[in-house]
Amino acid sequence: MSPVPSNLPPGVLFITPEVYPLLKTGGLGDVSAALPAALRELKVDARLLIPGYPQVLDGLKHKRKIAEFAAQPPFPASLLLSARLPLRASASVPVFIIDCPSLYRREGNPYVNAAGHNWPDNALRFGLLSKIGAILASDASPLPWRPQVVHCNDWQSGLVPAYLNFHPGEKAASLMAIHNLAFQGIFPADTVAQLGLPAASFHINGAEYYGGMSFLKAGLYYSDHIATVSPTYAREIQEESLGFGMQGLLSARSKHISGIVNGIDTIEWDPSTDPNLSRNYSANKLAAKAANKQALQQLLGLAVDPRIPLFGAVSRLTYQKGYDLLLEVAAQLTGLPAQLAVLGSGEVKLEQALTALARNHPGKIAIHIGFDEKLSHLIEAGADSFLMPSRFEPCGLNQMYSQRYGTPPLVHATGGLVDTVVDCTPATLADGSASGFLFFDMTADSFLGAIQRVTVAYNNKPVWRRLMKNGMAKDFSWRSSADAYRRIYLSLRS
Ligand code: ADP
Ligand code: GLC
Repeated sequence: MSPVPSNLPPGVLFITPEVYPLLKTGGLGDVSAALPAALRELKVDARLLIPGYPQVLDGLKHKRKIAEFAAQPPFPASLLLSARLPLRASASVPVFIIDCPSLYRREGNPYVNAAGHNWPDNALRFGLLSKIGAILASDASPLPWRPQVVHCNDWQSGLVPAYLNFHPGEKAASLMAIHNLAFQGIFPADTVAQLGLPAASFHINGAEYYGGMSFLKAGLYYSDHIATVSPTYAREIQEESLGFGMQGLLSARSKHISGIVNGIDTIEWDPSTDPNLSRNYSANKLAAKAANKQALQQLLGLAVDPRIPLFGAVSRLTYQKGYDLLLEVAAQLTGLPAQLAVLGSGEVKLEQALTALARNHPGKIAIHIGFDEKLSHLIEAGADSFLMPSRFEPCGLNQMYSQRYGTPPLVHATGGLVDTVVDCTPATLADGSASGFLFFDMTADSFLGAIQRVTVAYNNKPVWRRLMKNGMAKDFSWRSSADAYRRIYLSLRS
């Protein structure tokens, strides 16, 4: 570990494969921008490391070359650039960019090609991210700045703790953050040797995973500490149903796992200033929210009707997110006085089924296939209630955005959704905590029952107003969760 005296603020290298607003495919992009900014406000010297995709190189101004890494087969030569993240939110965050054109300068999604298949050289692409992360976090670094803790996110940086473990010199402590255990970075066994890890790491106590190797498993095994993005998910991943094969290792490391709920960027997501809305509003000026509903109905070709409950949804369309359940209840949903507006992209089958559904119910159901940041904000503001039937959800951000936007969410009781949404019952209405609706079984009946509860509550104006205001009053800022990470960093470096 680093010899830096413990009275200095911790330096943290936050390694991520995506960051808002440069490149975002999901919640990790949002977290990678907002958490380091919140940490810097707590005097943690957090800096990012990210691959130099075209969107990153084009989006960052005033880049400086600060180091060169010679080719080290199979890794090609690369440059390290330095810049600052252009956020209109809080503190600007220093960013290190790995410029390696043959691995990263390609258009499109950072993980998959246009056909939706993993880039064939992903082991090398994220092996290099991990390798350079480990170099920068050790006495082999060419930089004068050295972190005391390296904060790895998901499988793409999972090999950092492994490289550090086998580095003989001084090195940072490592924290492995799990945003989604379903993505494990699995590759053939010989990848271990190809990426320069010692044969000893190909072991059940190491990177080996059912005969192949897993970047994530390596990170979970070799890291000093593990974090995940909500307390409920921290428990769920230690059990078979949501452990995705890692539950044995995770329960063995139980004492070193923290569940820290994500926060949100309360400046980017503020209905009183959000430039993506048709009209801004706040808890004290709720009437203006209606203009967003009207704008959304018009934009998506829904019947313009202020009274009909409008359900919104914004999501990656994958098995995780439970859209098959939404399709299952579609027939009953269309029988209700209700509308549905969905923005999403992902699995072709789900895209096609949702598109067909909208085509068969014009004016009532609207689907926009694609990734559209602006529309996602308008849906949060314009919908009456936000749907998240996720089969599992490590944390989820949209349910927090929707509460802040006065759009009570309807969510499956799993993972971070349990930790951030309070089900509307007579008791929670009475104590002022009710902020949304939970359904407890992943079945059409249970989901439909909750949809009906929403429509009943929606028609009871005082109850609905209370729900909206309760959600809007909640503190979803990063402050206390960033402080929880800060305390873990301090404990790791001492
Ligand atoms: P996950 O990371 O599993 O996708 P989260 O709820 O944590 O789920 O975060 C998803 C983030 O990505 C949110 O900010 C959401 O608004 C955004 N998002 C997802 N799909 C789209 C889309 N099609 N267009 C715009 N934003 C999207
Ligand atoms: C993942 C999870 C999501 C979480 C996000 C950020 O993509 O699916 O639940 O909110 O990461 O941590």
